[in-house]
Amino acid sequence: MTLLYDTVGVVGAGAMGRGIAQIAAQAGSTVRLYDTQAPAVAKARDEIFSQWDRQLEKGRMDAAAVQACKQRLQAAGALADLADCKLVVEAIVERLDVKKSLLAQLEAIVAPSAVLVSNTSSLSVTAIAAGMERPQRFAGYHFFNPVPLMKVVEVIAGLKTDAAVCEGLAAYAKQMGHTPVQAQDTPGFIVNHAGRGYGTEALRVISEGITDFATVDRILKDQVGFKLGPFELMDLTALDVSHPVMESIYQQYYDEPRYRPSVITAQRLAGGVVGKKVGEGFYRYVDGKAQVAPEQPVPQVDEMPPVWVSTRAARRAELYQLLKDLGAKVETGQSPSPQALTIVAPLGFDVTTVAVVERLDPARTIGIDMLIDDAATKRRVLATNPATRADMRDAAHALFARDGKAVSVIRDSGGFVTQRVVATIVNIAADICQQRICSPKDLETAVTLGLGYPLGPLAMGDRWGPTNVLEVLFNMQTVYGDPRYRPSPWLRRRGAIGLSLSHVED
Ligand code: NAI
Repeated sequence: MTLLYDTVGVVGAGAMGRGIAQIAAQAGSTVRLYDTQAPAVAKARDEIFSQWDRQLEKGRMDAAAVQACKQRLQAAGALADLADCKLVVEAIVERLDVKKSLLAQLEAIVAPSAVLVSNTSSLSVTAIAAGMERPQRFAGYHFFNPVPLMKVVEVIAGLKTDAAVCEGLAAYAKQMGHTPVQAQDTPGFIVNHAGRGYGTEALRVISEGITDFATVDRILKDQVGFKLGPFELMDLTALDVSHPVMESIYQQYYDEPRYRPSVITAQRLAGGVVGKKVGEGFYRYVDGKAQVAPEQPVPQVDEMPPVWVSTRAARRAELYQLLKDLGAKVETGQSPSPQALTIVAPLGFDVTTVAVVERLDPARTIGIDMLIDDAATKRRVLATNPATRADMRDAAHALFARDGKAVSVIRDSGGFVTQRVVATIVNIAADICQQRICSPKDLETAVTLGLGYPLGPLAMGDRWGPTNVLEVLFNMQTVYGDPRYRPSPWLRRRGAIGLSLSHVED
């Protein structure tokens, strides 16, 4: 296939413009890079050249290819030098007025057939295009940082964008080695919208004092397989970047409770405790390494009580077998004996409520999160209720740690950490599908490539049971009375048949 845009202009030679210029040149396009700060262009060029030199050293590119790429990457001294570009990518400061004024200048310079795009991550594509002479040739082209490594790009149609323009941009993305996903022009597009659940729900857990942030990070990495915990991620991104994004998406959706930001990050941002780059965020950093407090040790328990499992426990058969495998004396009666450690496994409900409803002795009742099957996790999470006796808590901790698997003991809340965060992620994803912001398939692609989640959110819901996720949300709504947990209609409809069925038109 011939190259879609043989000459490409990139305006703004910062972190993003640099990366876009690099992959466009690698695809074979002549790239004209412009910045109002001339030294920025020279710096960007030097950095891209050294990237290619490294590729040559590693044997990933040959000398001729590197030479050709270097020749194709050209510094533009003035905006007018972009006159012959078939595509111009705007990657300048994130300000609507500045972007609009640049586009007006560009329209006066380039050919009427040239395509213009913005790499904006938070502004409306339609708003940027308003006032353009030809808004139909303008779209969002949202890359991720660092561009050469983050292989996904959101192609965003504004209200007036010509569909053929988006098709061309998607095809060109593939020529650059990227995977395009198509999104409607909505706040956060796909990736920054789908990513709302992870941090905000983790922050809610912390704000309720259920456990500390390091434990939340451990739980979500070990139980679900996230590469970084939400607090590690916020430290890396830094709160001066991520907190305003949380606020902006919440406000743009007119205070939709699902995206409500947290006072915790607002306060930390005000205090300058923004993350790794300043040496202190949720973690403290010494020589760039996070200082992590040690885990709760496994208690020494000399005499293990017998164990009784609630008949209503999630994954009851599996839990029962697990307890036997761990060598527990498992009681089989209709109700627990007076000595028994009593295990419940609620979905969305708190342990206290379950103990009361099932008429169990709360002093001996402990909850375990069974949303995810035990074999698939590296950690078990137990929750006490306010009345749980210390000896019962210690017995449960020691018992579930017998085979060497990590155990966290947290306080009681509606839903355990994993249930809350997973259900929130799945629910927001379902709502993205409900709003037709993108196809379910593109949603999964965007999230796995753009956020690095172990599974797409719909696949995550399917893997651990859409009806389980629904149950978590229904019950959390009861516990909290908070509309942020109301299930999306899409999740309610699709919950029974599977979320990621690609052949279902819904
Ligand atoms: P940056 O601050 O690293 O670079 C921006 C560059 O644009 C600077 O070199 C500046 O001199 C230049 N510039 C500013 N106004 C200009 C104008 N009127 N004409 C020409 N050049 C101008 O910014 P960064 O991070 O590269 O972001 C650029 C755009 O990409 C923003 O819209 C941002 O929201 C978006 N974006 C940023 C991501 C990131 O992780 N940094 C991710 C995805 C999108």
